[in-house]
Amino acid sequence: MKILVTGYTGQLGYDVVKEGTKRGLDMIGIGQKELDITKEKDVQTFIQELKPDAIVHCAAYTAVDQAEDQKEICWNVNVNGTKYLAEAAKEVNAKFMFISTDYVYKGEGTTPFVETDPADPINYYGYTKYESEKVVQSLLNDLFIVRISWVFGINGKNFIKTMLGLAETHDELNVVGDQIGSPTYTFDLAKLLLDMIQTDKYGIYQATNEGFCSWAEFAEEIFKQSGKQVKVNAITTEEYPTKAVRPKNSRMSKQKLVDNGFKPLRPWKEALAHYLNELKIEV
Ligand SMILES: NC(=O)c1ccc[n+]([C@@H]2O[C@H](COP(=O)([O-])OP(=O)(O)OC[C@H]3O[C@@H](n4cnc5c(N)ncnc54)[C@H](OP(=O)(O)O)[C@@H]3O)[C@@H](O)[C@H]2O)c1
Repeated sequence: MKILVTGYTGQLGYDVVKEGTKRGLDMIGIGQKELDITKEKDVQTFIQELKPDAIVHCAAYTAVDQAEDQKEICWNVNVNGTKYLAEAAKEVNAKFMFISTDYVYKGEGTTPFVETDPADPINYYGYTKYESEKVVQSLLNDLFIVRISWVFGINGKNFIKTMLGLAETHDELNVVGDQIGSPTYTFDLAKLLLDMIQTDKYGIYQATNEGFCSWAEFAEEIFKQSGKQVKVNAITTEEYPTKAVRPKNSRMSKQKLVDNGFKPLRPWKEALAHYLNELKIEV
């Protein structure tokens, strides 16, 4: 199976290509240098020539706060880029997997969202991801949409790397304690995505590591597992204003994965332990 993966130079795409290669699949990973997805003609030509069996679309404009000031660029990459890829996928009959986000939800309440809950994004990035979901749904049938959250992987910036960096210069940190969600380890998610893409169990799914926590609890666990002596003070969202509004409730149910015979990801603390080890090996 020939699988094209966008966002190869980012966190998730990198691990999807690595996992697929390990499985003996024909993986083609691309970053912006190889193909700028905002260039419609280039996208068409690239896909027509490659004729992949499937496209795992991990590329996105992911700077959530910056998106509030760079709306046009964000829209162009997330909505237009996705549209061009989906149109090209249709031409060559390729399966399509679009990676989406917990930010499509409004984020109120305390119960986990299910895939059929109404979307109502509260920041611009989330809005563009939801608009992209609608675009791909209007174009394609052989389609997976996978909503993920709080991503960490070896190839790129993430919360864990930021916390570990801060631990070098701080013995106390204020971290938001009233936004609850689930971390997602790209090493684990890549396996699930590749299991999925080889089936025809199309539809919208949610996928994260198991268990819920706040950012403050996540930070505490990072310091505990990495042996750093840093005191974490849980603060409120209001005490840590950001340009883009963040949902307080990012809990997502993974029941649909189980119902469709897919293996849910391991608990987030186990994933963190594996990742910290991966970071050590990488150094
Ligand atoms: N990070 C999170 O916490 C999070 C949470 C929920 C959902 N998601 C979604 O998960 C997916 C993967 O996220 P990630 O954290 O792996 O992303 P990432 O590390 O920020 O990487 C983004 C990727 O998109 C590519 N890209 C950006 N603009 C492009 C363009 N115009 N043409 C082609 N490629 C372009 C980048 O390529 P270059 O490096 O070559 O520019 C890079 O490979 C995204 O769809 C994101 O929306 C992420």
